[in-house]
Amino acid sequence: MPVAQRLVTDRRGSTVWEVESRRGRYAVKLGYPIEATTDWPAQPWTALAPAREGAVLHRLGFEEIAYGEWERGTWNIQPWHEGPDLYRLWEPCRRDASSLVPRAGVALGCVEALAELHAKGWAHGDVQPAHFIVGPERTSLIDLALARGGHVPESYDFPFRGCLVHYEAPEIARSVLSTGEAQATREADVYALGASLLISATGWRAVEYPDDAPRPVQRAAVAKGSRRPVKAPGELGELIDAMLSHAPEDRPTIHEVGKALR
Ligand SMILES: Nc1ncnc2c1ncn2[C@@H]1O[C@H](COP(=O)(O)OP(=O)(O)OP(=O)(O)O)[C@@H](O)[C@H]1O
Ligand SMILES: [Mg+2]
Repeated sequence: MPVAQRLVTDRRGSTVWEVESRRGRYAVKLGYPIEATTDWPAQPWTALAPAREGAVLHRLGFEEIAYGEWERGTWNIQPWHEGPDLYRLWEPCRRDASSLVPRAGVALGCVEALAELHAKGWAHGDVQPAHFIVGPERTSLIDLALARGGHVPESYDFPFRGCLVHYEAPEIARSVLSTGEAQATREADVYALGASLLISATGWRAVEYPDDAPRPVQRAAVAKGSRRPVKAPGELGELIDAMLSHAPEDRPTIHEVGKALR
Protein backbone atom coordinates (compact mmCIF):
# COMPACT_ATOMS: atom_id res chain seq x y z
CA MET A 1 0.00 0.00 0.00
CA PRO A 2 1.47 3.37 -0.96
CA VAL A 3 1.77 5.92 1.84
CA ALA A 4 2.78 8.73 -0.55
CA GLN A 5 2.98 9.14 -4.30
CA ARG A 6 4.18 11.76 -6.76
CA LEU A 7 3.63 11.93 -10.50
CA VAL A 8 7.08 12.17 -12.13
CA THR A 9 6.35 12.15 -15.86
CA ASP A 10 3.20 11.85 -17.90
CA ARG A 11 4.16 11.74 -21.55
CA ARG A 12 2.63 10.21 -24.60
CA GLY A 13 2.68 6.48 -24.04
CA SER A 14 4.18 6.44 -20.56
CA THR A 15 3.43 7.57 -17.02
CA VAL A 16 5.88 7.30 -14.10
CA TRP A 17 5.20 7.80 -10.37
CA GLU A 18 7.50 7.85 -7.38
CA VAL A 19 5.72 5.81 -4.74
CA GLU A 20 6.57 5.39 -1.08
CA SER A 21 5.45 2.39 0.88
CA ARG A 22 6.45 0.83 4.17
CA ARG A 23 8.81 -1.44 2.18
CA GLY A 24 10.64 1.49 0.63
CA ARG A 25 10.51 3.80 -2.36
CA TYR A 26 9.68 2.62 -5.88
CA ALA A 27 9.25 3.87 -9.41
CA VAL A 28 5.95 2.72 -10.93
CA LYS A 29 5.83 2.82 -14.73
CA LEU A 30 2.73 2.42 -16.86
CA GLY A 31 2.79 1.99 -20.64
CA TYR A 32 0.01 2.31 -23.20
CA PRO A 33 -0.12 2.66 -26.99
CA ILE A 34 0.43 6.02 -28.69
CA GLU A 35 -2.46 6.62 -31.09
CA ALA A 36 -1.72 8.06 -34.52
CA THR A 37 -2.20 11.82 -35.00
CA THR A 38 -1.65 14.04 -38.02
CA ASP A 39 1.95 14.59 -36.80
CA TRP A 40 2.79 11.11 -35.47
CA PRO A 41 2.31 7.55 -36.67
CA ALA A 42 0.79 5.17 -34.09
CA GLN A 43 3.37 3.65 -31.75
CA PRO A 44 2.00 0.46 -30.23
CA TRP A 45 5.36 -0.55 -28.69
CA THR A 46 5.13 2.00 -25.82
CA ALA A 47 2.46 -0.29 -24.33
CA LEU A 48 5.00 -3.14 -24.11
CA ALA A 49 8.00 -1.11 -22.90
CA PRO A 50 7.48 -1.43 -19.10
CA ALA A 51 7.10 -5.23 -19.24
CA ARG A 52 10.06 -5.50 -21.59
CA GLU A 53 12.13 -3.44 -19.14
CA GLY A 54 10.93 -5.60 -16.24
CA ALA A 55 12.03 -8.75 -18.09
CA VAL A 56 15.43 -7.19 -18.89
CA LEU A 57 15.98 -6.17 -15.24
CA HIS A 58 15.11 -9.72 -14.13
CA ARG A 59 17.56 -11.14 -16.67
CA LEU A 60 20.25 -8.81 -15.34
CA GLY A 61 19.76 -10.31 -11.90
CA PHE A 62 17.76 -7.57 -10.19
CA GLU A 63 15.27 -9.34 -7.98
CA GLU A 64 13.18 -6.52 -6.62
CA ILE A 65 11.23 -6.06 -9.85
CA ALA A 66 7.59 -6.70 -10.64
CA TYR A 67 5.87 -6.35 -13.99
CA GLY A 68 2.65 -7.32 -15.66
CA GLU A 69 -0.25 -6.27 -17.82
CA TRP A 70 -3.18 -3.91 -17.46
CA GLU A 71 -6.10 -3.13 -19.76
CA ARG A 72 -4.15 -0.83 -22.08
CA GLY A 73 -0.63 -2.19 -21.92
CA THR A 74 2.00 -3.18 -19.34
CA TRP A 75 3.50 -1.86 -16.08
CA ASN A 76 6.55 -2.34 -13.89
CA ILE A 77 7.64 -1.50 -10.35
CA GLN A 78 11.34 -1.03 -9.60
CA PRO A 79 13.41 0.44 -6.78
CA TRP A 80 13.57 4.24 -6.80
CA HIS A 81 17.06 5.74 -7.27
CA GLU A 82 17.59 8.95 -5.34
CA GLY A 83 19.48 11.86 -6.87
CA PRO A 84 19.60 14.38 -9.72
CA ASP A 85 20.18 13.21 -13.27
CA LEU A 86 23.38 14.12 -15.14
CA TYR A 87 21.78 17.00 -17.07
CA ARG A 88 20.38 18.64 -13.94
CA LEU A 89 23.56 18.10 -11.94
CA TRP A 90 25.73 19.91 -14.51
CA GLU A 91 23.33 22.83 -14.97
CA PRO A 92 25.72 25.19 -13.09
CA CYS A 93 28.54 24.29 -15.54
CA ARG A 94 26.34 25.28 -18.49
CA ARG A 95 25.30 28.52 -16.82
CA ASP A 96 28.79 29.60 -15.83
CA ALA A 97 31.25 27.80 -18.10
CA SER A 98 34.08 30.19 -17.23
CA SER A 99 34.38 29.18 -13.59
CA LEU A 100 32.84 25.74 -13.28
CA VAL A 101 34.45 22.67 -14.83
CA PRO A 102 32.36 19.48 -14.95
CA ARG A 103 33.74 16.97 -12.45
CA ALA A 104 35.44 13.92 -13.94
CA GLY A 105 34.21 11.93 -10.93
CA VAL A 106 30.62 12.43 -12.05
CA ALA A 107 31.49 11.35 -15.60
CA LEU A 108 33.26 8.30 -14.16
CA GLY A 109 30.13 7.34 -12.23
CA CYS A 110 28.15 7.33 -15.50
CA VAL A 111 30.88 5.37 -17.26
CA GLU A 112 30.92 2.75 -14.49
CA ALA A 113 27.15 2.32 -14.64
CA LEU A 114 27.30 1.70 -18.40
CA ALA A 115 30.43 -0.48 -18.07
CA GLU A 116 28.60 -2.75 -15.63
CA LEU A 117 25.84 -3.34 -18.19
CA HIS A 118 28.31 -3.91 -21.04
CA ALA A 119 30.32 -6.35 -18.91
CA LYS A 120 27.16 -8.46 -18.59
CA GLY A 121 26.95 -8.62 -22.39
CA TRP A 122 24.16 -6.07 -22.87
CA ALA A 123 23.79 -2.83 -24.81
CA HIS A 124 21.45 -0.14 -23.38
CA GLY A 125 20.15 1.40 -26.62
CA ASP A 126 18.73 4.57 -25.02
CA VAL A 127 21.67 6.27 -23.27
CA GLN A 128 20.79 9.93 -22.53
CA PRO A 129 21.54 12.41 -19.71
CA ALA A 130 18.15 11.89 -18.00
CA HIS A 131 18.87 8.18 -17.64
CA PHE A 132 21.89 8.61 -15.35
CA ILE A 133 20.74 9.15 -11.76
CA VAL A 134 23.71 10.39 -9.74
CA GLY A 135 23.22 9.09 -6.21
CA PRO A 136 25.34 9.78 -3.14
CA GLU A 137 27.04 6.38 -3.38
CA ARG A 138 26.67 5.32 -6.98
CA THR A 139 25.25 6.33 -10.31
CA SER A 140 22.38 4.29 -11.72
CA LEU A 141 21.55 3.85 -15.39
CA ILE A 142 17.76 3.62 -15.72
CA ASP A 143 15.22 2.88 -18.48
CA LEU A 144 16.32 -0.48 -19.85
CA ALA A 145 13.24 -0.86 -22.07
CA LEU A 146 15.32 -0.92 -25.28
CA ALA A 147 18.30 -2.94 -23.98
CA ARG A 148 19.61 -5.92 -26.02
CA GLY A 149 21.76 -8.83 -24.95
CA GLY A 150 19.66 -11.67 -23.62
CA HIS A 151 16.34 -13.40 -23.99
CA VAL A 152 13.18 -11.29 -23.71
CA PRO A 153 9.72 -12.93 -23.83
CA GLU A 154 8.45 -12.67 -27.39
CA SER A 155 5.08 -11.24 -26.34
CA TYR A 156 6.83 -8.21 -24.78
CA ASP A 157 9.53 -7.74 -27.42
CA PHE A 158 9.57 -5.16 -30.22
CA PRO A 159 12.17 -4.00 -32.75
CA PHE A 160 14.68 -1.25 -31.94
CA ARG A 161 13.84 1.85 -33.98
CA GLY A 162 16.55 4.19 -32.73
CA CYS A 163 16.52 6.56 -29.77
CA LEU A 164 16.54 10.32 -29.19
CA VAL A 165 18.31 11.68 -32.27
CA HIS A 166 20.65 13.92 -30.20
CA TYR A 167 22.29 10.78 -28.82
CA GLU A 168 22.01 8.52 -31.84
CA ALA A 169 25.25 7.20 -33.35
CA PRO A 170 25.66 7.76 -37.13
CA GLU A 171 25.36 4.04 -37.95
CA ILE A 172 22.08 3.81 -36.00
CA ALA A 173 20.65 6.91 -37.72
CA ARG A 174 21.69 5.52 -41.12
CA SER A 175 20.07 2.15 -40.44
CA VAL A 176 16.83 3.72 -39.13
CA LEU A 177 16.66 5.93 -42.22
CA SER A 178 17.11 3.05 -44.64
CA THR A 179 15.23 0.19 -42.93
CA GLY A 180 13.23 1.76 -40.08
CA GLU A 181 15.12 -0.38 -37.59
CA ALA A 182 18.62 -0.70 -36.14
CA GLN A 183 20.79 -2.78 -33.84
CA ALA A 184 21.54 -1.43 -30.36
CA THR A 185 25.27 -1.92 -29.79
CA ARG A 186 27.86 -1.14 -27.13
CA GLU A 187 29.72 1.08 -29.61
CA ALA A 188 26.56 3.14 -30.13
CA ASP A 189 26.13 3.37 -26.33
CA VAL A 190 29.66 4.85 -26.07
CA TYR A 191 28.74 7.45 -28.71
CA ALA A 192 25.51 8.25 -26.85
CA LEU A 193 27.37 8.69 -23.57
CA GLY A 194 29.85 11.02 -25.31
CA ALA A 195 26.93 13.08 -26.65
CA SER A 196 25.28 13.02 -23.20
CA LEU A 197 28.41 14.30 -21.44
CA LEU A 198 28.88 16.98 -24.10
CA ILE A 199 25.34 18.37 -23.94
CA SER A 200 25.27 18.22 -20.13
CA ALA A 201 28.61 20.05 -19.81
CA THR A 202 28.13 22.65 -22.56
CA GLY A 203 24.45 22.79 -23.53
CA TRP A 204 25.37 22.01 -27.15
CA ARG A 205 24.33 19.01 -29.22
CA ALA A 206 27.17 17.06 -30.82
CA VAL A 207 25.70 17.39 -34.32
CA GLU A 208 24.59 20.49 -36.17
CA TYR A 209 20.94 20.62 -37.29
CA PRO A 210 18.08 23.08 -36.81
CA ASP A 211 16.00 22.57 -33.64
CA ASP A 212 12.78 22.37 -35.62
CA ALA A 213 14.05 20.11 -38.43
CA PRO A 214 11.88 17.04 -39.06
CA ARG A 215 13.24 13.83 -37.54
CA PRO A 216 14.51 12.36 -40.88
CA VAL A 217 16.44 15.60 -41.58
CA GLN A 218 18.02 15.41 -38.11
CA ARG A 219 18.92 11.76 -38.70
CA ALA A 220 20.47 12.59 -42.07
CA ALA A 221 22.72 15.19 -40.37
CA VAL A 222 23.72 12.62 -37.74
CA ALA A 223 24.41 9.95 -40.37
CA LYS A 224 26.61 12.38 -42.26
CA GLY A 225 28.40 13.25 -39.02
CA SER A 226 28.22 17.05 -39.20
CA ARG A 227 29.97 17.49 -35.84
CA ARG A 228 29.72 20.88 -34.16
CA PRO A 229 33.13 22.35 -33.29
CA VAL A 230 32.24 22.38 -29.60
CA LYS A 231 34.35 20.84 -26.85
CA ALA A 232 33.84 20.15 -23.17
CA PRO A 233 36.44 21.91 -21.02
CA GLY A 234 39.53 20.14 -19.73
CA GLU A 235 40.66 16.60 -20.41
CA LEU A 236 37.06 15.48 -20.73
CA GLY A 237 36.98 17.27 -24.11
CA GLU A 238 39.50 14.96 -25.80
CA LEU A 239 37.86 11.86 -24.41
CA ILE A 240 34.38 12.92 -25.54
CA ASP A 241 35.73 13.62 -29.04
CA ALA A 242 37.06 10.05 -29.22
CA MET A 243 33.73 8.65 -27.97
CA LEU A 244 31.97 10.61 -30.73
CA SER A 245 34.17 9.13 -33.50
CA HIS A 246 32.15 8.61 -36.67
CA ALA A 247 33.17 4.97 -37.20
CA PRO A 248 32.14 2.65 -34.36
CA GLU A 249 35.50 0.83 -34.47
CA ASP A 250 37.34 4.11 -33.81
CA ARG A 251 35.53 4.67 -30.50
CA PRO A 252 37.11 3.55 -27.23
CA THR A 253 35.33 0.76 -25.35
CA ILE A 254 33.56 1.80 -22.16
CA HIS A 255 36.32 -0.01 -20.26
CA GLU A 256 38.95 2.16 -21.99
CA VAL A 257 36.94 5.31 -21.28
CA GLY A 258 36.89 4.36 -17.59
CA LYS A 259 40.64 3.74 -17.57
CA ALA A 260 41.33 7.12 -19.18
CA LEU A 261 39.09 8.95 -16.70
CA ARG A 262 40.58 7.23 -13.67
N1 LIG B 1 14.04 3.76 -10.92
C1 LIG B 1 13.97 5.09 -11.01
N2 LIG B 1 14.54 5.86 -10.05
C2 LIG B 1 14.46 7.21 -10.12
N3 LIG B 1 13.83 7.89 -11.11
C3 LIG B 1 13.25 7.17 -12.06
C4 LIG B 1 13.29 5.75 -12.09
N4 LIG B 1 12.61 5.32 -13.16
C5 LIG B 1 12.17 6.43 -13.80
N5 LIG B 1 12.53 7.55 -13.14
C6 LIG B 1 12.21 8.94 -13.51
O1 LIG B 1 11.16 8.96 -14.45
C7 LIG B 1 11.61 9.48 -15.72
C8 LIG B 1 11.01 8.66 -16.86
O2 LIG B 1 11.39 7.32 -16.69
P1 LIG B 1 11.89 6.44 -17.92
O3 LIG B 1 12.92 7.15 -18.68
O4 LIG B 1 12.25 5.10 -17.39
O5 LIG B 1 10.51 6.35 -18.72
P2 LIG B 1 10.20 6.54 -20.25
O6 LIG B 1 8.76 6.34 -20.39
O7 LIG B 1 11.09 5.68 -21.01
O8 LIG B 1 10.55 8.04 -20.56
P3 LIG B 1 11.36 8.59 -21.84
O9 LIG B 1 10.47 8.38 -22.99
O10 LIG B 1 11.60 10.01 -21.49
O11 LIG B 1 12.65 7.81 -21.92
C9 LIG B 1 13.12 9.39 -15.65
O12 LIG B 1 13.74 10.34 -16.46
C10 LIG B 1 13.39 9.62 -14.18
O13 LIG B 1 13.30 11.00 -13.87
MG1 LIG C 1 13.38 7.23 -20.54
